[in-house]
Amino acid sequence: MPVCVCIHWVAPIIFVPCHLVRDMLEIILSIVTEWALSQWIFLHVMVSGTCSLVTIHQPPVLTTALGHDVVMPCHLTHDEKMLTPSVLYWTDTNNVRVWRPSENYEGRVDLLDHDVLSLNKSLLLRKVKWTDGRKYLCKVSITLQDKRFRMSGNGTLLMVYDTVNFKPTSHNQSLLCCEVNVTQGPGFVLSIFHIGYNLQTVDTAPGNVSALPYVTLSQTIYLRNKGKYECQLHLNEELVAKNIYYHLPEPDVEVFPEPWFLYVALLLVPVTILLSLVTAMLMYRCCVCLP
Ligand SMILES: *[C@@H]1O[C@H](CO)[C@@H](O)[C@H](O)[C@H]1NC(C)=O
Ligand SMILES: *[C@@H]1O[C@H](CO)[C@@H](O)[C@H](O)[C@H]1NC(C)=O
Ligand SMILES: *[C@@H]1O[C@H](CO)[C@@H](O)[C@H](O)[C@H]1NC(C)=O
Repeated sequence: MPVCVCIHWVAPIIFVPCHLVRDMLEIILSIVTEWALSQWIFLHVMVSGTCSLVTIHQPPVLTTALGHDVVMPCHLTHDEKMLTPSVLYWTDTNNVRVWRPSENYEGRVDLLDHDVLSLNKSLLLRKVKWTDGRKYLCKVSITLQDKRFRMSGNGTLLMVYDTVNFKPTSHNQSLLCCEVNVTQGPGFVLSIFHIGYNLQTVDTAPGNVSALPYVTLSQTIYLRNKGKYECQLHLNEELVAKNIYYHLPEPDVEVFPEPWFLYVALLLVPVTILLSLVTAMLMYRCCVCLP
């Protein structure tokens, strides 16, 4: 016969006087509150010192044509009054100093606003080169209550593009080719349109790394229809540059035909007059000659 054994766990019951529990809770609560308060103050000082005092605003991406000048915006906003002027730095991603310029950038950069107290820390970069296509960080160093804080913006990625070439190929006049050199890295899209319709598109694929500081986007289409063809370069849905090609079969001849008939008619008038004059003179002479 199986034997059923039941085991009962009996929790020990301890009787504690009520006022003692209350006292204990109060002590625990006061310890926790004090700790939390000190932590909060500490955090607040940290946050106000390093984060919420100054915010550095930079646009994430900027495009510019090769050889042109570009303004890289950087604006500061702050909660409190800045006690001392901020010291400004601009560096690129290789940590090469752009402002004050190191030799790579010497003579090509300038601040838009030279006032040290200005919140406008925008930088002008002149005659952009292919090698300038990289990320730029706007940094400030602020002294507040004898403490020095150094902060950086999120950076602006500068993307360079060259002229968009759009013309028939040299080996076959009925093939239309669109070509442009752009900074490496994803984002650029080249498209050909005909009367508003997208015919073909190509983009800068990520991981398509070449030894050159730029990649070439190229598209070729067959010139089937007449009218306006447009080649557009976009970056993240935004139109950056374009070029237009009109495919019209010698429009001048059809629209304005040469008035050859008029030329001939005009030429005929003096010839006719001359001929009749000559004839008249000959006839007169003959008449005179006749006895
Ligand atoms: C910088 O980037 C961080 C993280 O992506 C973001 O939370 C912050 O708002 C950015 N700062 C500015 C000024 O845009
Ligand atoms: C401030 O910065 C912007 C670019 O963000 C620039 O266009 C403008 O001219 C600057 N203002 C001054 C006073 O330099
Ligand atoms: C030009 O290209 C088109 C399309 O590829 C082809 O049909 C045509 O024969 C080519 N013309 C010449 C002259 O090569």
